[in-house]
Amino acid sequence: MNNQIQANNSPDLQTIMRLIMADVSMINEGIYTQNFHLIEQGATAINQHPPLSEETRKFIQKTLGDQMPAFGEYDKLVHNHADSIKKAAIQHDMNKVLEQYRIVQQGCVNCHASFRETIVQARSVGN
Ligand code: HEC
Repeated sequence: MNNQIQANNSPDLQTIMRLIMADVSMINEGIYTQNFHLIEQGATAINQHPPLSEETRKFIQKTLGDQMPAFGEYDKLVHNHADSIKKAAIQHDMNKVLEQYRIVQQGCVNCHASFRETIVQARSVGN
């Protein structure tokens, strides 16, 4: 094992994103199988990932500069509405689940449209 990787065990953004995609898949499955417990589990998991490593957070800040607050807003929106999905699942309210799920999805897509390319590019040139 590479020591540098071991030295920093906070996941990077790409890793967290893949985990979040698995959570969203769980929510999706719960919606189509009417399994509110699965929906609740997926929505809870979105808000339980460990925070970004300090290094990654600094890298994003440096890359986005004064756009960092907008990035933070998308992040907050997704987390807040994931919490609303969880609450709606506990209440077995499928319409509310769907309404909040769409807001979360839109939040994912909007953040990607605004920032993904910039971050991927900066990451690949090692800035
Ligand atoms: C605050 C901004 C932001 C939000 C909100 C966001 N993402 Fe991302 N996402 C990114 C960025 C930036 C990348 C590129 C990361 C990289 O490649 O280093 C990314 C990459 C990804 C990837 C590709 C990972 C890979 O293997 O390259 C997936 C999948 C993903 N996000 C899923 C989601 C899902 C699902 C949501 C909503 C629940 C979401 N993201 C919300 C910013 C965001």
